Amino acid sequence: MTAVPPGVRAPVVTERLVLRLFTPDDVDDRYAYQRLPDVARFLYRPPLTREGCAESIAARAGGTPWQADGDALLLAVCRAQEPGVVIGEVVLTLANARARQAEIGWVLHPRHAGHGYATEAARALASAAFGRLGVHRLFARLDVLNTASVRVCERLGMRREAHLVDNDLDGDRWGSEYVYAVLAREWTS
Ligand SMILES: CC(C)(COP(=O)(O)OP(=O)(O)OC[C@H]1O[C@@H](n2cnc3c(N)ncnc32)[C@H](O)[C@@H]1OP(=O)(O)O)[C@@H](O)C(=O)NCCC(=O)NCCS
Repeated sequence: MTAVPPGVRAPVVTERLVLRLFTPDDVDDRYAYQRLPDVARFLYRPPLTREGCAESIAARAGGTPWQADGDALLLAVCRAQEPGVVIGEVVLTLANARARQAEIGWVLHPRHAGHGYATEAARALASAAFGRLGVHRLFARLDVLNTASVRVCERLGMRREAHLVDNDLDGDRWGSEYVYAVLAREWTS
């Protein structure tokens, strides 16, 4: 795969949202939701510290390559009327460059949940993935208890392809996971 073309680095605009690269000015907005235990609950890691937010933003300030396994395009989600205020994020990770497989993820500040913003942002990112980025198969992995995220996958028209039972240990709780996916030829949005 080639590097992310300039058109994808530039903001992606939807009906209500702007998806853009994070800047150092966004650290507090990002920390406001990434610090919350309820947000991190299904992210397979502890809540982020403010320093962690700042470091990961700084590491991506110059954009993201899109060539090697593990390259990840992280975009801030903002409402169109307030493009300087970050309400969440979406991420697209190149899981397997040779087979053009990418993983998608989403996080919203709980204050902005329940308006369809995550689905709208994910739909735009998926369209960019299948369009400019040449992805063949897009997938998402989620804890089976993450019902809000299950609903995002289903609204996007992704297919539940796997139910992995007790495939993770979350503290003293066995975690189970769904894998949802959609192919480029199936993408209609
Ligand atoms: C997963 C997550 C992003 C889902 O957020 P969400 O707000 O429920 O999802 P959306 O933004 O797509 O909003 C959908 C809801 O808004 C409602 N809605 C209200 N107004 C709407 C509108 N104008 N357009 C579309 N939907 C609208 C929908 O009916 C839907 O409600 P429902 O799910 O109760 O049926 C959020 O719960 C989150 O950040 N969780 C923590 C992080 C996480 O777990 N991420 C995923 C890891 S795999």
